[in-house]
Amino acid sequence: MKLKGRRIMVTGCAGFIASHLADELLARGNEVVGVDNLSAGKREFMSGMLSNERFTFVEGDLLTMDLARALDGIEVVCHLAANPDVRLGAKNTHIHFEQNIEVTYRLLEAGKDSGVKDILFPSTSTVYGETEVMPTPEDYGPLLPISVYGASKLACEALISSYCHTFDQNAVIYRFANVVGTRSTHNVLHDFIRKLREDPHHLEILGAEPGTIKSYVHVKDCVSGMVAGAEGAREQVEIYNIGSRDWMTVKDIADIVVEEMRLPDVEYRWTGGVKGGRGWVGDVKKMLLAVDKLEARGWEPKLGSREAIRRAVQEILA
Ligand SMILES: NC(=O)c1ccc[n+]([C@@H]2O[C@H](COP(=O)([O-])OP(=O)(O)OC[C@H]3O[C@@H](n4cnc5c(N)ncnc54)[C@H](O)[C@@H]3O)[C@@H](O)[C@H]2O)c1
Repeated sequence: MKLKGRRIMVTGCAGFIASHLADELLARGNEVVGVDNLSAGKREFMSGMLSNERFTFVEGDLLTMDLARALDGIEVVCHLAANPDVRLGAKNTHIHFEQNIEVTYRLLEAGKDSGVKDILFPSTSTVYGETEVMPTPEDYGPLLPISVYGASKLACEALISSYCHTFDQNAVIYRFANVVGTRSTHNVLHDFIRKLREDPHHLEILGAEPGTIKSYVHVKDCVSGMVAGAEGAREQVEIYNIGSRDWMTVKDIADIVVEEMRLPDVEYRWTGGVKGGRGWVGDVKKMLLAVDKLEARGWEPKLGSREAIRRAVQEILA
């Protein structure tokens, strides 16, 4: 799939990952139409784009807006808008159904009629559920998510695949590990930094020591992986994992945050967690993705999990 020279829609363009992707596409010379309802995204994340004459911003809600109009002249859609909060699914199951599945369905319906040829979609490691195969390859199955969020993204993958085969479109689906870096607004790093600013001597940590063990990838590596994966796609529907080759525990993350905040004396207070030490219902305990497939397309993450976390903490503190 070629991206060069094409007019590309990026949904969720005021959000964390999509704003970096839109910046990268503009830097590569693409014309970009960004859509966001600013529910979680921030206008300031688009400050670079808004002054670029190849960028058009459409403020709108993908659940209700006139998509046929917005998609006029668009061949490629990078659909990053979603509600990505895994925890939410245990309290309100409808949000992931509506914001993730229904919005994706609306985009696919409008896209098939308006000439969209290629779709880039960020899925998630959570579609694998609790696999014992580590690192987990893209062809692992059966896929049995343990969170409503994971289920919603898996449903989107299925819808996208079916539309591609029915309406002659192509898609690249990326299953991300935990993505960290500048412009993130909600994750474990923000939680720890906020708590330690309030009380520099104690840190409450959700779960049982040493916490879940997972892989983290920096947003810059994530975006370069998306571009490399799209450019190197060979199948009509191509799936790639994007993550680091290593993993780390929640305790490792706490240690880095404490070190970077230069706090000499912090006592960790583990809550014990739920369902056998998880931070929350739906939280997978172990996650490490096999990234050989994307590496075979010429991509390599510049940072491992620890470096990505350290860099992200420094970015948030700055
Ligand atoms: N952050 C991660 O670690 C991670 C991991 C795996 C997958 N993903 C996926 O990557 C994508 C981006 O995640 P993120 O962390 O950058 O999230 P984010 O919340 O920062 O960005 C999502 C953006 O979509 C917008 N949006 C949401 N619903 C909308 C709607 N109905 N209409 C228009 N705009 C809407 C929000 O305002 C926000 O700007 C999501 O699809 C998410 O599921 C993220």
